[in-house]
Amino acid sequence: MVSVLKKSILLIFAFNILSIYLYFLPRCPLPAPEDPDDDRNELSSLKPWPSLPSYLPWPSNPSRDPESCESFFGNGFTRRVDFLRRGRDRGWFRCHHNAVLGSSVCEGGRVRMASGRIRMARGGERLEEVLGRKEEEELPVFEEGAFEVEGDGGVWFAGRKWGNGWKRWRVVGDEDLERFLPGNGVERHTMRELIGNLTVIAKGELQCDQWIDEPALLVTRYEYANLFHTVTDLYSSYAASRVAGLPYRPRLIFVDGHCSSPLEETWKAMFSSVTYAKNFTGAVCFRHAIFVPLGYETAIFKGLSRKILCQGASIKDQWRNPDDKRTTRLSEFGEMIRASFGIPVGDHQIERPLSAHNVLFIRREDYRAHPRHIGKLESRLINEQHLFDSLKIWASSYQGCKVNLVDGLFAHMPMKDQVKAIQDASVIISAHGAGLTHIISAMSDTVILEIIGSKFRRPHYALIAWWRGLEYHAMNLEGSYANPGEVIDKLRSIIENLGC
Ligand SMILES: *[C@@H]1O[C@H](CO)[C@@H](O)[C@H](O)[C@H]1NC(C)=O
Ligand SMILES: *[C@@H]1O[C@H](CO)[C@@H](O)[C@H](O)[C@H]1NC(C)=O
Repeated sequence: MVSVLKKSILLIFAFNILSIYLYFLPRCPLPAPEDPDDDRNELSSLKPWPSLPSYLPWPSNPSRDPESCESFFGNGFTRRVDFLRRGRDRGWFRCHHNAVLGSSVCEGGRVRMASGRIRMARGGERLEEVLGRKEEEELPVFEEGAFEVEGDGGVWFAGRKWGNGWKRWRVVGDEDLERFLPGNGVERHTMRELIGNLTVIAKGELQCDQWIDEPALLVTRYEYANLFHTVTDLYSSYAASRVAGLPYRPRLIFVDGHCSSPLEETWKAMFSSVTYAKNFTGAVCFRHAIFVPLGYETAIFKGLSRKILCQGASIKDQWRNPDDKRTTRLSEFGEMIRASFGIPVGDHQIERPLSAHNVLFIRREDYRAHPRHIGKLESRLINEQHLFDSLKIWASSYQGCKVNLVDGLFAHMPMKDQVKAIQDASVIISAHGAGLTHIISAMSDTVILEIIGSKFRRPHYALIAWWRGLEYHAMNLEGSYANPGEVIDKLRSIIENLGC
Protein backbone atom coordinates (compact mmCIF):
# COMPACT_ATOMS: atom_id res chain seq x y z
CA MET A 1 0.00 0.00 0.00
CA VAL A 2 2.74 2.38 1.12
CA SER A 3 4.93 1.51 -1.81
CA VAL A 4 2.09 2.09 -4.29
CA LEU A 5 1.59 5.55 -2.78
CA LYS A 6 5.32 6.19 -2.87
CA LYS A 7 5.46 5.07 -6.47
CA SER A 8 2.66 7.33 -7.56
CA ILE A 9 4.13 10.31 -5.71
CA LEU A 10 7.44 9.65 -7.41
CA LEU A 11 5.69 9.30 -10.72
CA ILE A 12 3.87 12.61 -10.28
CA PHE A 13 7.13 14.19 -9.21
CA ALA A 14 8.94 12.84 -12.26
CA PHE A 15 6.15 13.99 -14.49
CA ASN A 16 6.33 17.53 -13.10
CA ILE A 17 10.08 17.67 -13.56
CA LEU A 18 9.63 16.50 -17.11
CA SER A 19 6.99 19.09 -17.93
CA ILE A 20 9.05 21.88 -16.37
CA TYR A 21 12.00 20.68 -18.38
CA LEU A 22 9.95 20.62 -21.56
CA TYR A 23 8.60 24.07 -20.80
CA PHE A 24 12.06 25.57 -20.67
CA LEU A 25 13.39 23.60 -23.59
CA PRO A 26 14.27 26.05 -26.33
CA ARG A 27 11.49 25.91 -28.82
CA CYS A 28 12.47 25.71 -32.41
CA PRO A 29 10.76 28.50 -34.26
CA LEU A 30 8.18 27.38 -36.76
CA PRO A 31 8.81 28.68 -40.23
CA ALA A 32 6.84 31.93 -40.51
CA PRO A 33 3.85 31.43 -42.77
CA GLU A 34 3.54 34.04 -45.44
CA ASP A 35 1.08 36.55 -44.09
CA PRO A 36 -1.46 37.40 -46.77
CA ASP A 37 -2.29 40.64 -44.95
CA ASP A 38 1.28 41.82 -44.75
CA ASP A 39 1.43 45.41 -45.97
CA ARG A 40 4.70 44.84 -47.75
CA ASN A 41 2.95 42.66 -50.31
CA GLU A 42 1.22 45.72 -51.75
CA LEU A 43 3.64 48.53 -52.18
CA SER A 44 4.23 49.45 -55.71
CA SER A 45 1.71 52.26 -56.06
CA LEU A 46 2.54 54.06 -52.81
CA LYS A 47 4.88 56.97 -52.13
CA PRO A 48 7.91 56.06 -50.03
CA TRP A 49 8.62 57.98 -46.83
CA PRO A 50 11.04 60.80 -47.54
CA SER A 51 14.23 60.83 -45.56
CA LEU A 52 13.90 63.39 -42.78
CA PRO A 53 16.97 64.70 -40.94
CA SER A 54 15.06 64.98 -37.64
CA TYR A 55 13.41 61.57 -37.92
CA LEU A 56 13.65 59.25 -34.94
CA PRO A 57 12.06 55.78 -34.88
CA TRP A 58 8.61 55.45 -33.27
CA PRO A 59 8.96 52.34 -31.10
CA SER A 60 6.14 51.44 -28.74
CA ASN A 61 7.74 51.31 -25.32
CA PRO A 62 5.16 50.63 -22.57
CA SER A 63 7.64 51.42 -19.79
CA ARG A 64 8.22 54.96 -21.02
CA ASP A 65 7.33 57.76 -18.60
CA PRO A 66 3.75 58.66 -19.62
CA GLU A 67 4.51 62.35 -18.97
CA SER A 68 7.57 62.37 -21.22
CA CYS A 69 7.54 64.51 -24.33
CA GLU A 70 7.68 61.40 -26.45
CA SER A 71 4.33 60.34 -24.96
CA PHE A 72 2.78 63.66 -25.93
CA PHE A 73 4.30 64.18 -29.36
CA GLY A 74 5.62 60.80 -30.46
CA ASN A 75 4.56 57.24 -29.77
CA GLY A 76 2.73 57.43 -26.47
CA PHE A 77 0.23 54.94 -27.94
CA THR A 78 1.80 52.14 -25.98
CA ARG A 79 -1.12 50.21 -24.52
CA ARG A 80 -2.20 47.73 -27.11
CA VAL A 81 -5.66 46.16 -26.88
CA ASP A 82 -6.60 43.38 -29.28
CA PHE A 83 -10.34 43.30 -29.85
CA LEU A 84 -10.33 40.82 -32.71
CA ARG A 85 -7.17 38.79 -32.84
CA ARG A 86 -5.11 38.65 -35.93
CA GLY A 87 -4.99 35.28 -37.56
CA ARG A 88 -4.12 33.73 -40.83
CA ASP A 89 -6.51 34.84 -43.52
CA ARG A 90 -9.11 36.56 -41.37
CA GLY A 91 -9.98 40.02 -40.14
CA TRP A 92 -8.62 41.66 -37.01
CA PHE A 93 -9.01 44.84 -34.99
CA ARG A 94 -6.92 46.49 -32.30
CA CYS A 95 -6.26 49.84 -30.67
CA HIS A 96 -3.10 51.49 -29.36
CA HIS A 97 -4.04 53.66 -26.42
CA ASN A 98 -2.29 56.83 -25.29
CA ALA A 99 -3.14 57.49 -21.63
CA VAL A 100 -1.73 61.00 -21.43
CA LEU A 101 -3.70 62.21 -24.48
CA GLY A 102 -6.79 60.09 -23.78
CA SER A 103 -6.69 58.93 -27.37
CA SER A 104 -6.24 55.75 -29.40
CA VAL A 105 -4.95 54.85 -32.83
CA CYS A 106 -7.06 51.89 -33.92
CA GLU A 107 -6.49 49.66 -36.92
CA GLY A 108 -8.05 46.64 -38.51
CA GLY A 109 -7.78 44.19 -41.36
CA ARG A 110 -10.62 43.20 -43.68
CA VAL A 111 -12.73 46.21 -42.82
CA ARG A 112 -15.75 47.01 -44.93
CA MET A 113 -17.14 50.49 -45.48
CA ALA A 114 -20.57 50.95 -47.03
CA SER A 115 -20.57 54.66 -47.73
CA GLY A 116 -24.27 54.54 -48.60
CA ARG A 117 -24.84 53.95 -44.90
CA ILE A 118 -22.95 57.01 -43.81
CA ARG A 119 -25.32 59.95 -43.73
CA MET A 120 -23.49 63.13 -44.76
CA ALA A 121 -22.91 65.42 -47.71
CA ARG A 122 -20.90 64.00 -50.59
CA GLY A 123 -17.85 66.13 -49.86
CA GLY A 124 -15.18 67.56 -52.12
CA GLU A 125 -17.59 69.90 -53.93
CA ARG A 126 -16.56 73.37 -55.05
CA LEU A 127 -17.27 75.93 -52.35
CA GLU A 128 -19.56 77.99 -54.59
CA GLU A 129 -21.85 74.98 -55.08
CA VAL A 130 -22.61 74.54 -51.40
CA LEU A 131 -22.78 78.02 -49.91
CA GLY A 132 -24.73 78.12 -46.68
CA ARG A 133 -24.57 74.36 -46.08
CA LYS A 134 -24.65 73.58 -42.37
CA GLU A 135 -21.79 71.92 -40.58
CA GLU A 136 -24.06 69.10 -39.32
CA GLU A 137 -24.62 68.02 -42.90
CA GLU A 138 -20.89 67.65 -43.39
CA LEU A 139 -20.26 65.48 -40.35
CA PRO A 140 -20.93 61.75 -40.69
CA VAL A 141 -23.81 59.92 -39.04
CA PHE A 142 -23.30 56.18 -39.04
CA GLU A 143 -26.16 53.87 -39.84
CA GLU A 144 -26.20 50.18 -39.22
CA GLY A 145 -23.59 48.40 -41.32
CA ALA A 146 -21.60 51.52 -42.22
CA PHE A 147 -18.42 49.83 -40.98
CA GLU A 148 -17.88 46.11 -40.38
CA VAL A 149 -14.87 43.91 -39.69
CA GLU A 150 -14.60 40.28 -40.53
CA GLY A 151 -13.71 38.10 -37.60
CA ASP A 152 -15.08 36.20 -34.71
CA GLY A 153 -15.60 37.48 -31.22
CA GLY A 154 -16.81 40.88 -30.23
CA VAL A 155 -19.29 42.11 -27.71
CA TRP A 156 -22.90 41.10 -27.81
CA PHE A 157 -24.80 44.20 -28.67
CA ALA A 158 -27.22 44.14 -25.79
CA GLY A 159 -28.68 47.58 -26.33
CA ARG A 160 -31.60 48.22 -28.62
CA LYS A 161 -32.40 45.42 -31.01
CA TRP A 162 -30.20 45.99 -33.95
CA GLY A 163 -30.41 44.74 -37.49
CA ASN A 164 -30.63 41.01 -37.94
CA GLY A 165 -30.61 40.56 -34.17
CA TRP A 166 -28.44 37.57 -33.43
CA LYS A 167 -25.87 38.36 -36.08
CA ARG A 168 -24.88 41.78 -34.79
CA TRP A 169 -21.85 41.90 -32.55
CA ARG A 170 -20.07 45.10 -31.78
CA VAL A 171 -16.28 45.09 -31.87
CA VAL A 172 -15.84 47.50 -28.95
CA GLY A 173 -18.34 47.54 -26.08
CA ASP A 174 -19.43 50.61 -24.16
CA GLU A 175 -16.99 50.19 -21.31
CA ASP A 176 -13.97 49.85 -23.56
CA LEU A 177 -15.23 52.69 -25.71
CA GLU A 178 -15.28 54.91 -22.64
CA ARG A 179 -11.85 53.72 -21.55
CA PHE A 180 -9.98 53.82 -24.85
CA LEU A 181 -11.94 56.35 -26.91
CA PRO A 182 -13.28 58.88 -24.42
CA GLY A 183 -15.37 61.73 -25.81
CA ASN A 184 -12.83 64.33 -24.64
CA GLY A 185 -15.54 66.98 -24.46
CA VAL A 186 -15.96 67.00 -28.27
CA GLU A 187 -19.63 67.53 -28.96
CA ARG A 188 -19.85 65.00 -31.78
CA HIS A 189 -16.83 62.76 -31.57
CA THR A 190 -17.15 61.09 -34.94
CA MET A 191 -14.24 58.68 -34.57
CA ARG A 192 -15.65 57.37 -31.29
CA GLU A 193 -19.05 57.03 -32.98
CA LEU A 194 -17.52 55.22 -35.94
CA ILE A 195 -15.72 52.70 -33.75
CA GLY A 196 -18.73 52.40 -31.43
CA ASN A 197 -20.77 51.41 -34.48
CA LEU A 198 -18.23 48.94 -35.83
CA THR A 199 -19.75 45.47 -36.03
CA VAL A 200 -18.34 42.01 -36.55
CA ILE A 201 -19.22 40.03 -39.60
CA ALA A 202 -18.64 36.29 -39.92
CA LYS A 203 -15.92 34.96 -42.13
CA GLY A 204 -17.20 34.36 -45.60
CA GLU A 205 -19.92 36.99 -45.33
CA LEU A 206 -17.78 39.97 -46.17
CA GLN A 207 -19.14 41.21 -49.48
CA CYS A 208 -17.10 43.79 -51.28
CA ASP A 209 -17.53 45.59 -54.56
CA GLN A 210 -13.98 46.80 -54.42
CA TRP A 211 -10.80 46.07 -52.43
CA ILE A 212 -8.20 48.59 -51.32
CA ASP A 213 -5.09 46.51 -50.89
CA GLU A 214 -2.78 49.23 -49.61
CA PRO A 215 -2.99 50.61 -46.05
CA ALA A 216 -5.52 53.45 -45.84
CA LEU A 217 -6.10 56.09 -43.17
CA LEU A 218 -9.67 57.07 -42.30
CA VAL A 219 -9.88 60.66 -41.08
CA THR A 220 -12.67 62.98 -39.98
CA ARG A 221 -11.85 66.68 -40.10
CA TYR A 222 -13.69 69.42 -38.26
CA GLU A 223 -12.43 72.94 -38.95
CA TYR A 224 -11.00 71.84 -42.27
CA ALA A 225 -10.62 75.33 -43.78
CA ASN A 226 -8.46 76.60 -40.93
CA LEU A 227 -4.73 75.96 -41.17
CA PHE A 228 -4.23 75.46 -37.43
CA HIS A 229 -6.87 72.75 -37.20
CA THR A 230 -5.78 71.20 -40.46
CA VAL A 231 -2.24 70.91 -39.15
CA THR A 232 -3.55 69.10 -36.05
CA ASP A 233 -5.39 66.67 -38.36
CA LEU A 234 -2.32 66.21 -40.55
CA TYR A 235 -0.14 65.63 -37.52
CA SER A 236 -2.55 63.06 -36.15
CA SER A 237 -2.57 61.28 -39.53
CA TYR A 238 1.21 61.31 -39.71
CA ALA A 239 1.54 60.03 -36.13
CA ALA A 240 -1.06 57.29 -36.74
CA SER A 241 0.91 56.11 -39.79
CA ARG A 242 4.07 55.87 -37.71
CA VAL A 243 2.35 54.21 -34.75
CA ALA A 244 0.92 51.60 -37.12
CA GLY A 245 4.43 51.15 -38.55
CA LEU A 246 3.37 51.64 -42.17
CA PRO A 247 6.29 50.94 -44.48
CA TYR A 248 5.03 53.37 -47.14
CA ARG A 249 2.86 56.47 -47.11
CA PRO A 250 -0.76 55.30 -46.92
CA ARG A 251 -3.80 56.25 -48.91
CA LEU A 252 -6.12 58.59 -47.11
CA ILE A 253 -9.91 58.76 -47.00
CA PHE A 254 -11.89 61.65 -45.59
CA VAL A 255 -14.86 60.31 -43.66
CA ASP A 256 -16.53 63.70 -43.80
CA GLY A 257 -18.57 65.71 -46.27
CA HIS A 258 -16.67 68.99 -46.34
CA CYS A 259 -16.26 70.81 -49.61
CA SER A 260 -12.85 71.07 -51.17
CA SER A 261 -10.43 73.68 -49.89
CA PRO A 262 -6.95 74.85 -50.88
CA LEU A 263 -5.59 73.08 -47.79
CA GLU A 264 -6.25 69.77 -49.54
CA GLU A 265 -3.01 70.39 -51.44
CA THR A 266 -1.07 69.48 -48.32
CA TRP A 267 -3.06 66.30 -47.75
CA LYS A 268 -2.42 65.26 -51.34
CA ALA A 269 1.26 66.06 -51.12
CA MET A 270 1.75 64.16 -47.90
CA PHE A 271 -0.15 60.95 -48.59
CA SER A 272 -0.23 58.50 -51.46
CA SER A 273 -3.78 59.43 -52.51
CA VAL A 274 -6.74 61.33 -51.10
CA THR A 275 -10.44 60.49 -51.61
CA TYR A 276 -13.74 61.27 -49.96
CA ALA A 277 -15.63 58.29 -48.49
CA LYS A 278 -18.74 59.16 -50.50
CA ASN A 279 -16.75 58.99 -53.70
CA PHE A 280 -16.89 55.20 -53.45
CA THR A 281 -19.99 53.60 -54.79
CA GLY A 282 -20.96 50.32 -53.17
CA ALA A 283 -19.00 48.57 -50.47
CA VAL A 284 -15.28 49.02 -50.31
CA CYS A 285 -13.11 46.67 -48.26
CA PHE A 286 -9.76 47.57 -46.77
CA ARG A 287 -7.05 45.04 -46.25
CA HIS A 288 -5.63 47.40 -43.64
CA ALA A 289 -7.52 50.45 -42.33
CA ILE A 290 -6.10 52.84 -39.76
CA PHE A 291 -8.53 55.04 -37.81
CA VAL A 292 -6.95 58.42 -37.15
CA PRO A 293 -7.63 60.17 -33.81
CA LEU A 294 -9.26 63.61 -34.06
CA GLY A 295 -6.89 66.55 -34.36
CA TYR A 296 -8.36 67.76 -31.05
CA GLU A 297 -6.55 64.86 -29.37
CA THR A 298 -3.06 65.87 -30.48
CA ALA A 299 -0.64 67.60 -28.12
CA ILE A 300 -0.71 70.60 -30.49
CA PHE A 301 -4.36 71.20 -29.58
CA LYS A 302 -4.30 69.90 -26.01
CA GLY A 303 -1.41 72.21 -25.24
CA LEU A 304 -3.81 75.16 -25.47
CA SER A 305 -5.55 74.09 -22.29
CA ARG A 306 -2.91 72.17 -20.33
CA LYS A 307 0.77 72.73 -19.79
CA ILE A 308 2.93 70.69 -22.14
CA LEU A 309 6.37 72.06 -21.48
CA CYS A 310 8.35 70.28 -24.15
CA GLN A 311 10.91 72.59 -25.62
CA GLY A 312 11.98 71.79 -29.15
CA ALA A 313 15.47 70.36 -29.46
CA SER A 314 17.72 69.78 -32.41
CA ILE A 315 18.26 66.22 -33.49
CA LYS A 316 22.00 66.62 -32.87
CA ASP A 317 21.39 67.56 -29.23
CA GLN A 318 18.95 64.71 -28.76
CA TRP A 319 21.47 62.21 -30.14
CA ARG A 320 24.25 63.55 -27.99
CA ASN A 321 22.25 64.12 -24.88
CA PRO A 322 18.78 62.49 -24.95
CA ASP A 323 16.33 64.46 -22.81
CA ASP A 324 12.77 63.21 -22.44
CA LYS A 325 11.59 66.70 -21.48
CA ARG A 326 12.39 67.96 -24.97
CA THR A 327 11.15 66.95 -28.38
CA THR A 328 12.21 66.83 -32.01
CA ARG A 329 8.84 65.59 -33.28
CA LEU A 330 7.47 68.89 -34.58
CA SER A 331 10.70 69.49 -36.48
CA GLU A 332 10.38 66.03 -37.97
CA PHE A 333 6.82 66.83 -38.98
CA GLY A 334 7.77 70.23 -40.43
CA GLU A 335 10.38 68.47 -42.54
CA MET A 336 7.72 65.98 -43.60
CA ILE A 337 5.58 68.86 -44.90
CA ARG A 338 8.51 70.39 -46.76
CA ALA A 339 9.63 67.08 -48.22
CA SER A 340 6.06 66.28 -49.29
CA PHE A 341 6.14 69.35 -51.53
CA GLY A 342 9.52 68.37 -52.91
CA ILE A 343 11.30 71.16 -51.04
CA PRO A 344 14.74 70.03 -49.89
CA VAL A 345 15.07 69.32 -46.18
CA GLY A 346 18.25 69.13 -44.16
CA ASP A 347 19.92 72.36 -43.15
CA HIS A 348 23.04 71.79 -45.24
CA GLN A 349 21.05 71.51 -48.46
CA ILE A 350 19.49 74.91 -48.13
CA GLU A 351 21.44 77.92 -49.10
CA ARG A 352 20.26 81.20 -47.85
CA PRO A 353 21.98 84.14 -49.45
CA LEU A 354 24.66 85.52 -47.15
CA SER A 355 24.29 89.15 -46.17
CA ALA A 356 20.58 89.21 -47.00
CA HIS A 357 17.54 88.40 -44.91
CA ASN A 358 14.03 87.65 -46.03
CA VAL A 359 11.48 89.13 -43.66
CA LEU A 360 8.19 87.44 -44.42
CA PHE A 361 5.06 89.35 -43.45
CA ILE A 362 2.14 86.91 -43.41
CA ARG A 363 -0.94 88.88 -44.38
CA ARG A 364 -4.50 88.25 -43.31
CA GLU A 365 -6.88 88.61 -46.20
CA ASP A 366 -10.62 88.60 -46.63
CA TYR A 367 -11.85 85.62 -48.58
CA ARG A 368 -14.61 83.12 -48.23
CA ALA A 369 -13.09 80.19 -46.39
CA HIS A 370 -16.01 77.78 -46.01
CA PRO A 371 -19.75 77.57 -46.76
CA ARG A 372 -20.73 79.30 -43.51
CA HIS A 373 -18.21 82.07 -43.87
CA ILE A 374 -19.26 85.47 -45.15
CA GLY A 375 -15.82 86.23 -46.55
CA LYS A 376 -14.81 88.93 -44.08
CA LEU A 377 -12.17 88.44 -41.44
CA GLU A 378 -12.29 89.96 -38.04
CA SER A 379 -9.62 92.61 -38.09
CA ARG A 380 -6.81 91.79 -35.72
CA LEU A 381 -4.48 94.49 -36.90
CA ILE A 382 -6.42 97.46 -38.25
CA ASN A 383 -3.40 99.16 -39.83
CA GLU A 384 -1.87 96.08 -41.41
CA GLN A 385 -1.42 97.63 -44.85
CA HIS A 386 0.07 100.81 -43.43
CA LEU A 387 2.40 98.80 -41.25
CA PHE A 388 3.49 96.74 -44.24
CA ASP A 389 4.21 99.89 -46.29
CA SER A 390 6.20 101.43 -43.44
CA LEU A 391 8.29 98.26 -43.06
CA LYS A 392 8.86 98.23 -46.80
CA ILE A 393 10.30 101.75 -46.76
CA TRP A 394 12.42 100.95 -43.74
CA ALA A 395 13.74 97.71 -45.28
CA SER A 396 14.73 99.38 -48.55
CA SER A 397 16.92 101.87 -46.77
CA TYR A 398 18.26 99.66 -44.01
CA GLN A 399 22.01 100.05 -43.65
CA GLY A 400 23.76 96.86 -42.69
CA CYS A 401 22.67 93.89 -44.66
CA LYS A 402 20.09 93.59 -47.34
CA VAL A 403 16.55 93.07 -46.02
CA ASN A 404 13.88 91.81 -48.42
CA LEU A 405 10.39 92.36 -47.13
CA VAL A 406 8.22 89.59 -48.58
CA ASP A 407 4.50 90.17 -48.97
CA GLY A 408 2.92 86.95 -47.69
CA LEU A 409 -0.44 87.07 -49.47
CA PHE A 410 -0.96 83.42 -48.62
CA ALA A 411 -4.66 83.24 -49.40
CA HIS A 412 -3.69 83.63 -53.07
CA MET A 413 -0.66 81.41 -53.14
CA PRO A 414 -0.42 77.65 -53.77
CA MET A 415 0.43 75.78 -50.59
CA LYS A 416 3.82 74.75 -51.92
CA ASP A 417 4.81 78.38 -52.47
CA GLN A 418 3.65 79.25 -48.97
CA VAL A 419 5.84 76.56 -47.46
CA LYS A 420 8.77 77.65 -49.64
CA ALA A 421 8.35 81.28 -48.49
CA ILE A 422 8.37 80.07 -44.89
CA GLN A 423 11.54 78.11 -45.46
CA ASP A 424 13.29 81.05 -47.11
CA ALA A 425 12.44 83.48 -44.30
CA SER A 426 14.92 84.58 -41.64
CA VAL A 427 12.17 86.44 -39.79
CA ILE A 428 8.42 85.85 -39.91
CA ILE A 429 6.05 88.62 -38.82
CA SER A 430 2.31 88.22 -38.51
CA ALA A 431 -0.74 89.23 -36.59
CA HIS A 432 -2.18 86.36 -34.55
CA GLY A 433 -3.85 84.13 -37.13
CA ALA A 434 -3.91 80.58 -38.42
CA GLY A 435 -1.37 81.38 -41.16
CA LEU A 436 1.28 81.42 -38.45
CA THR A 437 0.82 77.66 -38.03
CA HIS A 438 3.19 77.42 -40.98
CA ILE A 439 6.09 78.11 -38.62
CA ILE A 440 5.94 74.39 -37.93
CA SER A 441 7.93 73.98 -41.15
CA ALA A 442 10.28 76.95 -40.71
CA MET A 443 14.04 76.46 -40.57
CA SER A 444 15.40 76.02 -37.07
CA ASP A 445 17.11 79.45 -37.04
CA THR A 446 14.01 81.42 -38.07
CA VAL A 447 12.83 84.15 -35.69
CA ILE A 448 9.11 84.75 -35.14
CA LEU A 449 7.49 88.09 -34.31
CA GLU A 450 3.78 87.81 -33.51
CA ILE A 451 1.69 90.96 -33.20
CA ILE A 452 -1.16 90.25 -30.84
CA GLY A 453 -4.27 92.40 -30.55
CA SER A 454 -5.89 92.72 -27.14
CA LYS A 455 -8.78 90.44 -28.10
CA PHE A 456 -6.55 87.64 -29.33
CA ARG A 457 -4.19 86.81 -26.52
CA ARG A 458 -4.05 83.11 -27.17
CA PRO A 459 -0.97 80.93 -27.05
CA HIS A 460 -1.22 78.85 -30.26
CA TYR A 461 1.88 80.15 -32.02
CA ALA A 462 3.99 80.91 -28.98
CA LEU A 463 3.53 77.23 -28.16
CA ILE A 464 4.37 75.94 -31.63
CA ALA A 465 7.50 78.12 -31.62
CA TRP A 466 8.44 76.73 -28.19
CA TRP A 467 7.87 73.09 -29.21
CA ARG A 468 9.93 73.74 -32.31
CA GLY A 469 12.65 75.52 -30.35
CA LEU A 470 12.34 78.71 -32.46
CA GLU A 471 13.21 82.17 -31.18
CA TYR A 472 9.87 83.89 -30.58
CA HIS A 473 8.89 87.48 -29.78
CA ALA A 474 5.42 88.83 -29.08
CA MET A 475 4.20 92.42 -29.34
CA ASN A 476 1.07 92.78 -27.28
CA LEU A 477 -1.10 95.68 -28.45
CA GLU A 478 -3.50 97.74 -26.38
CA GLY A 479 -6.19 97.40 -29.01
CA SER A 480 -5.62 96.34 -32.61
CA TYR A 481 -3.38 99.19 -33.81
CA ALA A 482 0.36 98.58 -34.06
CA ASN A 483 2.69 101.57 -33.98
CA PRO A 484 4.98 101.15 -37.03
CA GLY A 485 7.91 102.78 -35.25
CA GLU A 486 7.74 100.23 -32.45
CA VAL A 487 7.53 97.30 -34.84
CA ILE A 488 10.52 98.66 -36.78
CA ASP A 489 12.56 99.00 -33.57
CA LYS A 490 11.74 95.42 -32.66
CA LEU A 491 12.59 94.18 -36.13
CA ARG A 492 15.84 96.13 -36.20
CA SER A 493 17.02 94.54 -32.98
CA ILE A 494 16.10 91.08 -34.28
CA ILE A 495 18.05 91.65 -37.51
CA GLU A 496 21.06 93.08 -35.69
CA ASN A 497 21.13 89.94 -33.56
CA LEU A 498 20.99 87.71 -36.62
CA GLY A 499 24.00 89.45 -38.11
CA CYS A 500 24.74 89.40 -41.78
C1 LIG B 1 -23.40 55.14 -33.70
O1 LIG B 1 -23.48 56.26 -34.55
C2 LIG B 1 -24.46 57.21 -34.19
C3 LIG B 1 -24.51 58.27 -35.29
O2 LIG B 1 -23.25 58.62 -35.79
C4 LIG B 1 -24.16 57.79 -32.83
O3 LIG B 1 -25.12 58.72 -32.44
C5 LIG B 1 -24.06 56.66 -31.82
O4 LIG B 1 -23.64 57.18 -30.58
C6 LIG B 1 -23.06 55.61 -32.30
N1 LIG B 1 -23.08 54.48 -31.39
C7 LIG B 1 -22.04 54.22 -30.57
C8 LIG B 1 -22.21 53.05 -29.69
O5 LIG B 1 -21.04 54.87 -30.55
C1 LIG C 1 -14.10 59.71 -57.51
O1 LIG C 1 -14.64 58.64 -58.25
C2 LIG C 1 -14.52 58.78 -59.66
C3 LIG C 1 -15.29 57.67 -60.32
O2 LIG C 1 -15.17 56.46 -59.63
C4 LIG C 1 -13.03 58.78 -60.01
O3 LIG C 1 -12.86 58.89 -61.41
C5 LIG C 1 -12.37 59.95 -59.31
O4 LIG C 1 -10.99 59.94 -59.55
C6 LIG C 1 -12.62 59.89 -57.81
N1 LIG C 1 -12.14 61.09 -57.21
C7 LIG C 1 -11.37 61.08 -56.14
C8 LIG C 1 -10.94 62.40 -55.61
O5 LIG C 1 -11.02 60.07 -55.61
